[in-house]
Amino acid sequence: MKINENFLKIQSSYLFSNIAKKVAAYQSANPDADIIRLGIGDTTRPLADAVIKSMHKAVDEMADEKTYQGYQPDYGQNFVLEKIQEYDFKARGVDIDLDEIFLSDGAKSDSGNIGDIFSADNVVAICDPVYPVYIDTNVMAGRTGELLENGLWSNIVYLPCTAENNFLPELPKKHADIIYLCFPNNPTGMAITADELQKWVGYANENGSVILYDAAYEAFITEDLPHSIYELKGAKTCAIELRSFSKTAGFTGVRCGYTVVPKELVVNGVSLNKLWARRQSTKFNGVSYITQRAAEATYSPEGRQQVKDIIAYYQENAKIMLEGINKAGFKTWGGVNSPYVWLKTPDDMKSWDFFDLLLNKIQVVGTPGEGFGPSGEGFFRLTAFGSTERTKQAIERIQNFF
Ligand code: MLT
Repeated sequence: MKINENFLKIQSSYLFSNIAKKVAAYQSANPDADIIRLGIGDTTRPLADAVIKSMHKAVDEMADEKTYQGYQPDYGQNFVLEKIQEYDFKARGVDIDLDEIFLSDGAKSDSGNIGDIFSADNVVAICDPVYPVYIDTNVMAGRTGELLENGLWSNIVYLPCTAENNFLPELPKKHADIIYLCFPNNPTGMAITADELQKWVGYANENGSVILYDAAYEAFITEDLPHSIYELKGAKTCAIELRSFSKTAGFTGVRCGYTVVPKELVVNGVSLNKLWARRQSTKFNGVSYITQRAAEATYSPEGRQQVKDIIAYYQENAKIMLEGINKAGFKTWGGVNSPYVWLKTPDDMKSWDFFDLLLNKIQVVGTPGEGFGPSGEGFFRLTAFGSTERTKQAIERIQNFF
């Protein structure tokens, strides 16, 4: 009997679990401390009224044998897929077939699971800093080699995102088979223009690479930027796109997302759409009926307006944070097309030291940049997903302290 030893190479717990543990320890030692949590990007606004109504109706349907629903189609019901097709793609001039959309329990799962359809020999290019799931799931799959002393993995082609390149990665210097991109970016909050993204599509098509494009934060875009990679010419032959209802419609606790795998995306004569379809029908039993009705409701006229209002609420928080932190003298990025504000720590303080300082002195929790990769050292992330009241309090505490 042997275990998957790749798990032994990885840190024993996931970044956000580590932070939660540290905060819980502080709270238990200081039971009266009024902690403001702006660490994990977890939503706090209640679900849209249209979503709640639709879920209640779906629960009632499940209570009646005439409308009861058992197993759901593996890839989602057409009543949701058609809405996704119309509002997320057709409205932006993109034609996506229904059988290219795979509904799931979220973009985190999909971004990890998608590795199943690729060989363990593939070379993976990943931004640094980055959403830790891309790295950790590749470590588990045995694609990353060994962890070096500098905190980097020997077989990963890193795409450093630094203040010098304005947190926009440059094309890989070494060949990469799989390229993870996330825009608007987690953690830096920076977005990409169509011209810049077109370069990546060109690179991937020329080099036979596949881009895994995480667009979980597209709803936060305020400027004239692509929301989907398929808005770019040639993207259907080189890109898979991951989408989420979590940050868009507050589904972090409901769980729903989807992945688009175009049929034109063919590697060595094999359609990746077919492989993903096979993977999902084998390992996934479909999204719950109630959740699918919830997702559908986000596209009704009322649902769309209500979801827009929720996003506007978080965007206002991001603006408050950005202005307030700049005023306190910090250098910042993101926050304009994103719910994340990325800031430089004062005096090059290590990001975990800055985390401890904020927690111990002013009881504000953020995420240390180093937790997203070595290039995140010296930076710190705050999220706009709290309440406006608490966000303002956190900013006041930061302004008074620094
Ligand atoms: C984050 O804080 O980076 C996100 O909440 C993580 C996630 O979406 O899984």
